[in-house]
Amino acid sequence: MGGVHPQTLNHNTLMKRHAKWFIAGGAMVALAIVAWAAEQARPNLKQPDYRRWTHVKTMVIFDPAHPLYNDFGGIHHVYANATALPSTQEQKFPFPDGSQLVFVLYDIKNVDGAYVAADKKLTAVMVKNSARFKDTGGWGFQAWDAQGRALVNDGGASCFACHRDKASKTDYVFSRFER
Ligand code: HEC
Repeated sequence: MGGVHPQTLNHNTLMKRHAKWFIAGGAMVALAIVAWAAEQARPNLKQPDYRRWTHVKTMVIFDPAHPLYNDFGGIHHVYANATALPSTQEQKFPFPDGSQLVFVLYDIKNVDGAYVAADKKLTAVMVKNSARFKDTGGWGFQAWDAQGRALVNDGGASCFACHRDKASKTDYVFSRFER
């Protein structure tokens, strides 16, 4: 029976002395992982100040027979920031990193035969960052309801599924610039 090896002793004492830091470190790593997982599920994007951007197009989806009526019935406008604009206008792809597009949707009401925008239903954004959002075509997707609550919590997978299937030739962006 030899004594405890000095190195083990040292190590044990060190472990005890620093146990709380090891635990705290572990907790921080765990928190970081949780935060990372949450960020993956709910892309941490901010509602941009898009009203100063360039208007790309407008569309009214008024007929329940339209395939997007349930989700996107109403009047919507699409805006592009300065980085996204050349790609949208000239249909040049891919969009550069930093490109942002907004889709803002309002209810419509019929006022004496005119469709007029009513309450805001949804603000949706696509943000290009090829590295950060590589699982969804390089685009981060997020949307907010009228109260500002973030709606995307699947990492944008369901948004991307539709954009990927129907707009793969235009870097997953549908909107063409209305001149
Ligand atoms: C079922 C298909 C579908 C789904 C799901 C979908 N979109 Fe779209 N999205 C479209 C279509 C179609 C347009 C083009 C509308 C137009 O031409 O005015 C569009 C347009 C957009 C635009 C403007 C840029 C562009 O591609 O024209 C943004 C931003 C956007 N969607 C974000 C989202 C977000 C965020 C989600 C998920 C919350 C989402 N979309 C889910 C079909 C879809």
